[in-house]
Amino acid sequence: MGAFLAGPDARWVTGQNVRDNGGLVWSTGPRHRRGPPRAANAQRGVKRFRVFHVVFYHPEIPGNAGNAIRMAAGSSCALHLIEPLGFSVEDSKLRRAGLDYHDRAALHLHADLESAWRALNPQRVIAFTSKSEVSYETVAYRPGDVLLFGPESTGLPEDVLETATLQVRIPMLPGIRSMNLANSAAVAVYEAWRQQGFAMPS
Ligand SMILES: C[S@@+](CC[C@H](N)C(=O)[O-])C[C@H]1O[C@@H](n2cnc3c(N)ncnc32)[C@H](O)[C@@H]1O
Repeated sequence: MGAFLAGPDARWVTGQNVRDNGGLVWSTGPRHRRGPPRAANAQRGVKRFRVFHVVFYHPEIPGNAGNAIRMAAGSSCALHLIEPLGFSVEDSKLRRAGLDYHDRAALHLHADLESAWRALNPQRVIAFTSKSEVSYETVAYRPGDVLLFGPESTGLPEDVLETATLQVRIPMLPGIRSMNLANSAAVAVYEAWRQQGFAMPS
């Protein structure tokens, strides 16, 4: 499996070499040279921006993390998993859902939320919860924002929600309790990235 990494408090989960590029970690393995993919490098005059950080707090289902890995690879957000996880990062379901995009995603594993905050030092944490009355698209997302999501079975606990800068909700039809974790992360990331004109990461 590919590029997994790291801030000062995170730890290696694979042996592949990676380089931390101001919060964005690119694989330096055989399939990718240092720096962003060539297609991104080749585009001239393209607006660039710092990446968004998607944080999954205590995720339980490997397929959701795998989906998010694929989404992170395609949208250049960084994905952070906060332990304990309900699965191993070597789980076959996670690998299958992430297809062969693991080595294109910046994936960070943190022992706990405090470690993640120390590594990221975020200016803003935007918590996604179906309990909020603020709709997610009303936020002006800023590069570097953390987008925080809760575990599949319980959602974000109250004490974690209270630490967030903002709490937002993705609209749903009446009678629906919540969206799938990976789907809600994709909706959030694509709105944040859309607001940046789908700029390439710096
Ligand atoms: C499957 S949901 C959690 C469901 C949990 N049973 C609950 O009631 O909160 C997993 C995570 O996806 C995100 N999520 C799901 N639906 C959402 C919505 N409509 N608005 C905002 N976030 C949502 C939240 O971060 C949530 O913690």
